[in-house]
Amino acid sequence: MHYDDFLDLCKQRQSCRGFSDQPVEHDKLVLCVEAGRLAHSGCNAQPWSFAVVENPDMVTQIAQCGQQLKQNVWLETTKAFIIIFEEHAVLSPVISCFLDSQYYAKGDLGAAAAYVCLEAASQGLGSCIIGLYDRKKICELLHIQRDKQFGSVIALGYPPNDIIRPKKRKAFEDIVRFV
Ligand SMILES: Cc1cc2nc3c(=O)[nH]c(=O)nc-3n(C[C@H](O)[C@H](O)[C@H](O)COP(=O)(O)O)c2cc1C
Repeated sequence: MHYDDFLDLCKQRQSCRGFSDQPVEHDKLVLCVEAGRLAHSGCNAQPWSFAVVENPDMVTQIAQCGQQLKQNVWLETTKAFIIIFEEHAVLSPVISCFLDSQYYAKGDLGAAAAYVCLEAASQGLGSCIIGLYDRKKICELLHIQRDKQFGSVIALGYPPNDIIRPKKRKAFEDIVRFV
């Protein structure tokens, strides 16, 4: 799939809930995570690290971590995950006098997740951010400290079809004003 411009890509990117059997190429996952790494962040603190989960057994186990309440059953079809972790942010000295080190981190991690998902779309991949998951179990599986903060758990795979749903968004004029 080819995109003419960025807005077009934004319209094409949609949460994909269920994937085809086609495996995802390692190189495409590298590009997705590279896009996340290039995201902007407050003071350029880059308060993130990424885990790319592509081993099929591990993918199955991580998928189960997102189904603790039997939600997101379609996660069973996921071919890879990119998990973004929150890391300590070192802000510039002037800013850090006023703000806690993690003040910008949630927004920064959101930007990184958006970049990952947009790059996935540009590679013809489907993606869906997962909001509810067993954080402790994921930490256990990936051998990381149990109190680690997460940015996003992003499920990836090839979409089962080419259907692009119309976007459900608040009306432009209801949420934008020019002054
Ligand atoms: C933080 C966050 C958590 C989300 N969690 C889930 C989820 O657990 N399951 C799911 O199906 N979609 C989840 N989504 C996807 C949203 O429902 C979706 O982005 C929204 O409905 C807009 O649709 P679109 O992404 O297709 O444009 C999540 C999105 C975000 C940003």
